[in-house]
Amino acid sequence: MNAITEAVSLSNSVDMTNFWMPFTGNRQFKAAPRILKSAKDMHFTTMDGQKVLDASAGLWCVNAGHGRAEIIEAVHKQMQELDYAPPFQMAHPLAFEAAKVVAGVMPKGLDRIFFANSGSEAVDTALKMALAYHRSRGEAQRTRLIGRERGYSGVGFGGISVGGIVANRKAYSANLIPGVDHLPHTHSIPDMGFSKGQPQWGMHLADHLESLCALHDASTIAAVIVEPVAGSTGVLVPPVGYLQRLRELCTKHGILLIFDEVITGFGRLGKATASEFFGVTPDMITMAKAINNASIPMSAVAAQTHIYDAILNASPANAIEMFHGYTYSSHPAAAAACLATQEIYKREKLFDRSLALAPKFEKAIHALRGEPYVKDIRNLGLMGAVELESRAGAPGARAYDVFLKCLEMGVLVRYTGDSLAFSPPLIVSEDQIDEIFNTVKKAIHLVA
Ligand SMILES: Cc1ncc(COP(=O)(O)O)c(C=O)c1O
Repeated sequence: MNAITEAVSLSNSVDMTNFWMPFTGNRQFKAAPRILKSAKDMHFTTMDGQKVLDASAGLWCVNAGHGRAEIIEAVHKQMQELDYAPPFQMAHPLAFEAAKVVAGVMPKGLDRIFFANSGSEAVDTALKMALAYHRSRGEAQRTRLIGRERGYSGVGFGGISVGGIVANRKAYSANLIPGVDHLPHTHSIPDMGFSKGQPQWGMHLADHLESLCALHDASTIAAVIVEPVAGSTGVLVPPVGYLQRLRELCTKHGILLIFDEVITGFGRLGKATASEFFGVTPDMITMAKAINNASIPMSAVAAQTHIYDAILNASPANAIEMFHGYTYSSHPAAAAACLATQEIYKREKLFDRSLALAPKFEKAIHALRGEPYVKDIRNLGLMGAVELESRAGAPGARAYDVFLKCLEMGVLVRYTGDSLAFSPPLIVSEDQIDEIFNTVKKAIHLVA
């Protein structure tokens, strides 16, 4: 049964009036809903029993695959023992254990872990930490934040301000946080189209930070935040040397470098972090999603020890040092899920698996070159995108139709603008990688 037929039967049985869906065309969806009922390993099952191969790990987050028994059991056990503990002025053991385990897979030095519940909250937390850090060191004038065009750093006011996705910003433009500037994005099809892995062209774009330092004076800039690989905008892989150059310039000018690893964290590139993969150590890393296999909302900021120390030492010993936190920071169920997930990653060597599968993934995605309307293909690790030519006057319509056709044929992909994005769980098999891209190829032919 195809998605539309399924939708009709479902809409007869479920009243969809009240749920205001996020980042969804509500009217379009409710006219032809796509509803998932269950999931196991690499597959979802829809309401009418159709199995759908998950080519996007949900939203770039279910890295260990769906329905992992160890995570479910750990959460169940934790909920029976301690369903909730206030995280302000009180704590529970798993919060400390989870922080230790997460710190253990971060690059050396990023060993202070602050928990939140979403990538957006992690980003806002990191931005606040940057401001608090400079203030605590007597550099309170460092208030400016630098993001990047086409960056996605969540949907809080901090995140959309440093972010560079126009649609996410324009309705709120008068209320974005002040004192923000942006680096140029790193994508240029004429210069780097169809690059396999990191493009050779584009390192010089990092030097734009020098221009911003000249314009604003470096002493006013608190932090630069970028996704090491920009995910949501359609997988923009950093040019060779680009992240290293950003690191050099931030160090030179006393600016904190924040890597938003909400997507790249936990094995997407074959290492725990993109920072480790690229050999570039930022001052802070934001993470979420795969931190606990997306089973319970959880995110975190990993900060360098000296950032934690500077902020703590600026206050009297008995004072709250940072007036920030969330009711559900380090929630017991989320922490239990985090520990169980990290154990799975380790035991099953899933990051190594991701690294080993990357060449196969690269070959399979680039085999789509030359298919109708394929304008660019980009990849790194187990993430990639196929960008299609837009239909005249209807940006996004072609990718949406391909997405629907793939779903009908049993594969869930993501689309953003006219790019199809891929980030399968790290347990994906080689045959499933072929299934994903063979299905996309057929879908492009059928609907393009
Ligand atoms: C790089 C990045 N940062 C932040 C976020 C926001 O995360 P959340 O949706 O959990 O708020 C996302 C979400 O996809 C992301 O990709």
